[in-house]
Amino acid sequence: MKIAVLVSGGGTNLQAIIDAIASGKITNTEIALVISNKEGAYALERAKNAGIEGRFISPKQYTDKEAYSQDMIKIIKDAGCELIVLAGFLVVLPESFVNAFEGKIINIHPSLIPSFCGDGFYGLKVHEKALERGVKVTGATVHYVDSGTDTGPIINQKAVYVKPSDTPEILQKRVMEEAEWIILPQAIDDIANHRI
Ligand code: GAR
Repeated sequence: MKIAVLVSGGGTNLQAIIDAIASGKITNTEIALVISNKEGAYALERAKNAGIEGRFISPKQYTDKEAYSQDMIKIIKDAGCELIVLAGFLVVLPESFVNAFEGKIINIHPSLIPSFCGDGFYGLKVHEKALERGVKVTGATVHYVDSGTDTGPIINQKAVYVKPSDTPEILQKRVMEEAEWIILPQAIDDIANHRI
């Protein structure tokens, strides 16, 4: 199964996928393409280091969202990708893009959906809100992407305990280590091997 990984930042989830393929935790899968909407994203460096084609494509390069959507659809289809993995991708995808790949887009979100998700909940903000609310357990969710924000069917979740001394940064790192980097590769392997 060829996959496209869409990223916006550091790309630690991309790295977890690259490593899981290399170690055989993910089988029957090849990353054909990494697309970043941020030009200097370290995720592109990670792709390059792994010998994977990385491209910088931003909606800002297009006259409108629809032109961006159609170009992204063509590039991903031309690369032969059967699954699109949003790994810290912070662009809200146009509906035409989501419809073109119905049931073929998955996302990692750094909370236990339906808590701390939806518009405005991304990256560190999710952990800031979780600490503000005083939850004692948080975690991460892998889900299919539909036309809403974080509303698609849930594939897997993993819980992580919050500690009294946590800052948003410390909690973000623990959620990545204990949940995201485990359940995202697992979901890809499950899809590649027809267990989902
Ligand atoms: C990850 O924590 C991911 O769950 C989150 O952005 C971070 C990206 O880190 N995604 C969202 O908040 C999506 N709503 P990474 O670039 O190191 O993988």
